[in-house]
Amino acid sequence: MLGGRKLSSSGSRFLGAHRSAFRGTQGDCPRLTTSAAYSKNQLSWTLQIKPSVFSEYRIMCFKSYSMTFACLNRMKSYRLPWTRLYSTSRTTVDSSEVKTFLALAHRWWDEQGVYAPLHSMNDLRVPFIRDNLLKTAADHQPGKPLSGMKILDVGCGGGLLTEPLGRLGASVIGIDPVDENIKTAQHHKSFDPVLDKRIEYRACSLEKIVEETAETFDAVVASEVVEHVIDLEVFIQCCCQVLKPGGSLFITTINKTQLSYALGIVFSEQIAGIVPKGTHTWEKFVSPEKLESILESNGLSVQTVAGMLYNPFSGYWHWSENTSLNYAAHAVKSSMQEHPAPADLL
Ligand SMILES: C[S@@+](CC[C@H](N)C(=O)[O-])C[C@H]1O[C@@H](n2cnc3c(N)ncnc32)[C@H](O)[C@@H]1O
Repeated sequence: MLGGRKLSSSGSRFLGAHRSAFRGTQGDCPRLTTSAAYSKNQLSWTLQIKPSVFSEYRIMCFKSYSMTFACLNRMKSYRLPWTRLYSTSRTTVDSSEVKTFLALAHRWWDEQGVYAPLHSMNDLRVPFIRDNLLKTAADHQPGKPLSGMKILDVGCGGGLLTEPLGRLGASVIGIDPVDENIKTAQHHKSFDPVLDKRIEYRACSLEKIVEETAETFDAVVASEVVEHVIDLEVFIQCCCQVLKPGGSLFITTINKTQLSYALGIVFSEQIAGIVPKGTHTWEKFVSPEKLESILESNGLSVQTVAGMLYNPFSGYWHWSENTSLNYAAHAVKSSMQEHPAPADLL
């Protein structure tokens, strides 16, 4: 069942070795210091001797202040490379997607409802994330193998994946642009006092996290999210920027094939109603090859790409060598790199 496609350029990408692992579990305004500073004596002397000079001084002071302020403001956008690689004013959030997910925000935890396939996807994706993270961990606590790790779950929705990652001991920040999703996620985790401490939820975009922090997370997870974003390249650049060197990016998504159109949209949405109509836009799907090329151009080395198949009759997922529908990818940010220049945005 389980098998991985060997990929072209970098990394040891195979899933055979994972076979056993998958079986078991589931301005403020800057202060002016020099340029506009005049001594009291100078100023009073000017006022007594030549009042007109005072207005010149005022103009000079003002000009000098403005120049300093403009200069400092400009400097803000050339921050030190180790704190900020770039900032983007582009958003990856599509307002029509926000509307779709807003309408379903109260249904996340209905295991038989519209998000049932995401609940059962945890059987594959939780061990996939855990086992790949543990490959690099020196030792780990029994029962809490991910303790000490900091994970960002981007597009966490109602927290279906965030919670099991928290249960494995990780400190997880779950973010989602839909406020109502975050309320649902907050409410659900409040039932478990342990998770309440380990998980933090925020209603915000990934771009906002990038503005606040860099190279912070041991892992970034974007599960079933990239097919909903506007600008995939910016999205991946942002993921890469918040990852620590050596950190892991995990993505699950849908391939862009004729089969994914037929089964993922026509069958799942329009015929069987497995997924609500309008949830997916085929044009936004991405092939593993395209995703790999974006990942690698951002300094990430792709380790694994594995196909995932959903059986709508049993409601279960299984691993497959076939990536023509759903697939999971694991990529690692190089720990050697200085700071890869995200091609377009520097
Ligand atoms: C299919 S759901 C997946 C939820 C969760 N990752 C899971 O698998 O249970 C997609 C989620 O991505 C969020 N989303 C959509 N566009 C996004 C963006 N540009 N950045 C981050 N999250 C986004 C949606 O609000 C929604 O909660």
